Amino acid sequence: MRVLVTGGAGYIGSHTTLALLQAGHEVLVVDDLSNASEESLRRVAALAGRTPAFIQANVRDEAALDAAFEGFTPDAVIHFAGWKAVGESTQIPLTYYRENLGSTFTLLEAMAKHDCHRIVFSSSATVYGEMSEPPFTEDAPTGATNPYGRTKHMIEQILADAVAADPGLAVGVLRYFNPIGAHSSGRIGEDPKGIPNNLLPFVAQVAAGRRDKLMVFGDDYPTPDGTGTRDYIHVVDLATGHLAALDKLADRSGYHVWNLGTGRPTSVLEIVGAFEKASGITVPYEIAPRRAGDVASSYAHPGKANAELGWSATHTIDEMCADTFRWQSANPNGYADA
Ligand code: UD1
Repeated sequence: MRVLVTGGAGYIGSHTTLALLQAGHEVLVVDDLSNASEESLRRVAALAGRTPAFIQANVRDEAALDAAFEGFTPDAVIHFAGWKAVGESTQIPLTYYRENLGSTFTLLEAMAKHDCHRIVFSSSATVYGEMSEPPFTEDAPTGATNPYGRTKHMIEQILADAVAADPGLAVGVLRYFNPIGAHSSGRIGEDPKGIPNNLLPFVAQVAAGRRDKLMVFGDDYPTPDGTGTRDYIHVVDLATGHLAALDKLADRSGYHVWNLGTGRPTSVLEIVGAFEKASGITVPYEIAPRRAGDVASSYAHPGKANAELGWSATHTIDEMCADTFRWQSANPNGYADA
């Protein structure tokens, strides 16, 4: 199948592009490289033995997107492109709304114009917020507590409205839990700009000596060791979840939501321990106050994706940490080393 992948040079996008190529699909990546490097696509091509087509453009660029659809004639779209930092989104909310909502409008309009009816959207478990207790099923109440989360929540609603108006449309909303890890080759991985916000990239940079120590945000949560628990999922498992969703949507129009998670919560201190085991390096840390906006615990009920997509996450926390460490050691400064 021919798949147009927005944001395909980014962390999750590059792993999914590789999985698509390895499964024999044709891929066109549309990415403005505002938070990604073209080097990721060169490495994807080397790993796959096949080169994905690439257009450097913002997905909001109607002319560029029109040309991409005209030339590539995709059967389906995976929409990763978007701004994703919670803290930043509270500082520049209008940018988040303009980029994340605007790109979705341009994309849906281009799909309608060019007779493309299948889309998989990168949503987030952030939409479950604090509205109910984990494990979260897809029908749990949703909302959001910051502009980034609200863009994800709004786009889900926009997609549902688009399906209501056009029952021929097939939409898969994938709610990611916490993607970590890297391809086992160590050639592609997460390459955050500046100081990482998320736990694993931060831990990896502490182990690499780029940061002094980890601040553990809170040890007084109602969890077994007092630190926050999350459902960490290997990025390669996440990538295969997209292929399963695309397949499912081939014979099923309508609006569908699937959680992509393992169903297992892991605490911050358990992650530190697993990373130390995988790397053989001690990770210094200090207990700090809770981070504003954090929940105690978030993990998936992955049963719907397991049953309907025939998909499940297979990698362990130890594998996730080993793969993160391999990527970080081989590329201490990410793609900038290339
Ligand atoms: C964060 C976002 C979420 C987004 C997701 C994926 C917030 C509040 N939430 O989720 O909306 O969808 O990333 O990008 O930013 N931790 C530390 N020290 C650190 C970093 C994190 O102790 O330096 C802890 C956190 O308190 C949390 C856990 O590690 O308990 C995971 O944090 P993180 O990787 O930032 O993910 P989320 O907060 O789950």
